[in-house]
Amino acid sequence: MQEKIDQYTAEINAFSPSNTDELEAFRIKFLGTKGIIKDLFEQFKSVGPEEKRVLGKVLNQFKQLAETSYNERKESFGPVSETQGSVLDLTLPGQGFNLGSRHPLSLTRNEIIDIFKRLGFVVAEGPEIEDDWHNFSALNFPQEHPARDMQDTFFVKKNNGGDDIALRTHTSSVQVRMMENGKPPFRAIMPGRVYRNEAISARAHCFFHQVEGLYVDENVSFADLKQTLYHFVQELYGEGTKVRFRPSYFPFTEPSAEMDISCTICGGSGCNMCKYTGWVEILGCGMVDPNVLENCHIDSKKYTGFAFGMGIERITNLKYVIKDLRLFSENDVRFLKQFQTEII
Ligand code: PHE
Repeated sequence: MQEKIDQYTAEINAFSPSNTDELEAFRIKFLGTKGIIKDLFEQFKSVGPEEKRVLGKVLNQFKQLAETSYNERKESFGPVSETQGSVLDLTLPGQGFNLGSRHPLSLTRNEIIDIFKRLGFVVAEGPEIEDDWHNFSALNFPQEHPARDMQDTFFVKKNNGGDDIALRTHTSSVQVRMMENGKPPFRAIMPGRVYRNEAISARAHCFFHQVEGLYVDENVSFADLKQTLYHFVQELYGEGTKVRFRPSYFPFTEPSAEMDISCTICGGSGCNMCKYTGWVEILGCGMVDPNVLENCHIDSKKYTGFAFGMGIERITNLKYVIKDLRLFSENDVRFLKQFQTEII
């Protein structure tokens, strides 16, 4: 045994590994669970008591030699990662992490809200599940109006007699709630999600987002409506953007109009976005019908008002030239991260 120990001692002293694999092989050979030291201690059990006294000391010294040799050689290879046993390379790049980004519809909505806030409008919100009164009747929709039809409206509960419950088809319902619960003057915008029973395609979806606005006070005129919306367009799309109003019809406004702006993509010369007309429609508007004011217990002889409503998707499409509405609700990170720089 003594002879073997001498032989191993010489081997250990001469050991000079050139890489960590050789070092590991050394550890397994001498210090492993089935290694030489373990084996020598096994053999030690069966030597005579005389020999044991001498050999015990020698064996312990040998074990210590193997351990310190191993540790010293290991240190010479540098610090070792505790988890992987691999060498830590401080020059490697760190792990990046993705910053979230605002959804393009939120960016546009916030921009619209900011513009109207500067004009003194407050933000009002209301429920997405509405009753017939707030979504239709109070807004002067006749009982047989086609917009109440199953084709356009998602009914939650159909009750014959006019008290149907449905997903709101526009945020005009919030205007009714506001007028019913307060006293003029009102100057508010109503952003929110609305639902219509449409087949999903690049140009239509079963839900979309609106910002509607309401201004009711004494002596509010169509000139106020035009000037407010003109200012809004200059702020949103830049100075020099032209507007035009075309007569239209909504049950809740009289007179009613649709407002077009000069195409923001081609500047009015004609392109695929404006169907070569130079104009794109962005919102509906008009003077609040006196019947609506009366339905909300507001004296229509004393007060007048204007209202308008726009789809946030449409405004966003024109701002960022997005041609497929479905992109807004698919949550494709490749689409969404293009708006990363605009985190506010
Ligand atoms: N509520 C209308 C719609 O959803 C928009 C609108 C609001 C039109 C206010 C005129 C006045 O299409």
